[in-house]
Amino acid sequence: MKIAIVNGPNMNLLGRRQPEIYGCRTLHDIELSLREEFPGVDFLFFQSNSEGAIVSELQRLGYDEPGVDGIVLNAAAYTHTSLAIADAISAIPQPVVEVHLSNVYAREEIRRRSLIAPVCAGSISGFGAAVYSLAVRALI
Ligand code: DQA
Repeated sequence: MKIAIVNGPNMNLLGRRQPEIYGCRTLHDIELSLREEFPGVDFLFFQSNSEGAIVSELQRLGYDEPGVDGIVLNAAAYTHTSLAIADAISAIPQPVVEVHLSNVYAREEIRRRSLIAPVCAGSISGFGAAVYSLAVRALI
């Protein structure tokens, strides 16, 4: 199986950014853990702070990268604002699982609204770095 892990803005600071909310593990730590836990999965990793770059990557994964079976997406703050990312998810054939390290429903009101949830296969929120592993399990 080929699964892409796509992360949005500020996720490059994971491990240093508000560790009391997002934990101490870096994106690289998460990548290593996933590769170790799922040796049979061919993973692609992508992170961008830019909305347009995330839209372009979803399009690329959907139509230009051969054999992608599913996508795990932490759109970070764009979750709550981006119709463009929601449209990109709708436009591609693969299932997309929305993930959040923090429990977005236990935080500020604006984080309770996800523009991407209605077009995702499912959403996992609040279990720290384990959300990526749970999402991969949901896809395989
Ligand atoms: C986040 C939650 C978002 O509300 C926030 O903007 C993030 C990270 C999470 O993983 O908990 O940047 O997606």
